[in-house]
Amino acid sequence: MAKFFNDNAVYFSKAPIKDPTSYEDTVSRIRSHLTPTSTVLEVGGGTVTVALKLASSCTEILCTDIAENMIRIAEERAAAASVRNCKFQVADAANPPEGQFDVVLSLNVINVCEYPSAVMRVLRSRLKPGGIIVSKIHFAPNNWWQRFTLPVKQLLGKMPPIVHFLDFPLLVELHEKTGFDVIDQVEYKTTPHCLVIARKKEDSDV
Ligand SMILES: C[S@@+](CC[C@H](N)C(=O)[O-])C[C@H]1O[C@@H](n2cnc3c(N)ncnc32)[C@H](O)[C@@H]1O
Repeated sequence: MAKFFNDNAVYFSKAPIKDPTSYEDTVSRIRSHLTPTSTVLEVGGGTVTVALKLASSCTEILCTDIAENMIRIAEERAAAASVRNCKFQVADAANPPEGQFDVVLSLNVINVCEYPSAVMRVLRSRLKPGGIIVSKIHFAPNNWWQRFTLPVKQLLGKMPPIVHFLDFPLLVELHEKTGFDVIDQVEYKTTPHCLVIARKKEDSDV
């Protein structure tokens, strides 16, 4: 899994933001849940474009990613931007650093994790009581063609080895089934993707 993202780290880091309006909306929705004392864990942060934007709105962001090349570029970017409260660690979202955070960010990563429900549960365990998770995914509305061509693209190294075809309702359901109350949700129709913000439910037996 890490190989695909290590091999493509430079490509990802140079890819332009496809839909700047939606991107800014996502950043501002996340920021509305941050306070100057917030601690944030990001999983699958990639080259941390979002974390760098949020860093001034919280105490610290621990940026993690399974791919060390992503983390290396992320560290360089943070240094170039003089952002000092982003820390970096190579880690699988299925086994994130120990700790209790106010906010967990999982942006465009849960659908490439092998066991999304298990990852959601472990991320829930890293949240303080009342903590917030923010999840985003891109999806193809009529995905029969993507499903059909995926194995070929994977064989050619053009797509990650694991891709789950989640969509907006499935992402909401994933949160509800793994011990969260959804408090905000939005579908961005331009480049189809969606954002779910959910609060950790206490005493949830999931
Ligand atoms: C599509 S990129 C998204 C990057 C960033 N979150 C964003 O939204 O721009 C997916 C990222 O998830 C990372 N990733 C994939 N599987 C992972 C896993 N099991 N644990 C942690 N990170 C993972 C990849 O290395 C990559 O950086």
